[in-house]
Amino acid sequence: MKTVKDYIRTIPDFPEKGIMFRDVTSVIQDADGLKLAIDEMIKRLDGLDFDVIAGAESRGFVFGMPIAYALHKPFVMVRKAGKLPCETVSKTYDLEYGTATIEMHKDSVKPGQKVVLVDDLIATGGTMQAAAELVEELGGEVVKMLFLIELAGLNGRKLLSKYDVDAVVSYD
Ligand code: ADE
Repeated sequence: MKTVKDYIRTIPDFPEKGIMFRDVTSVIQDADGLKLAIDEMIKRLDGLDFDVIAGAESRGFVFGMPIAYALHKPFVMVRKAGKLPCETVSKTYDLEYGTATIEMHKDSVKPGQKVVLVDDLIATGGTMQAAAELVEELGGEVVKMLFLIELAGLNGRKLLSKYDVDAVVSYD
């Protein structure tokens, strides 16, 4: 019986020397890998009371949307700056080099709604921290952060220690 880890391809020295790149394209381009990955993520939401799934552009869409569809929940897109047509809230955060800005529609999360944030991978946690701040600015409550892959050595869990962080596969 294959596990999700069996479908994750590791590319040494991408995008730069010394990085072991954990590639999710190899998971989702295999029908069994895709089904297993989404099913395993869904299992981690078992029994959780929540209203909305939100995912950050772009791999957060890939994994968040099928989960929302399967559980009959709404899906909210957290997008890169300048893409959303209606009124937005926006947050700029630090990257390894430079900064990035993400946005959400103001009406995408209602005050009091319980939100699950989904992404493919947690590294330093910066994007998810910014996404959580946007949800909270809209009055939502982040009840879980769910990932397919955790890069434990980058300490994202520490940055996100006030949240319930869960991942299907972990690498040191
Ligand atoms: N993002 C940050 N580090 C990564 C890695 N090692 N593999 C895939 N995505 C990443």
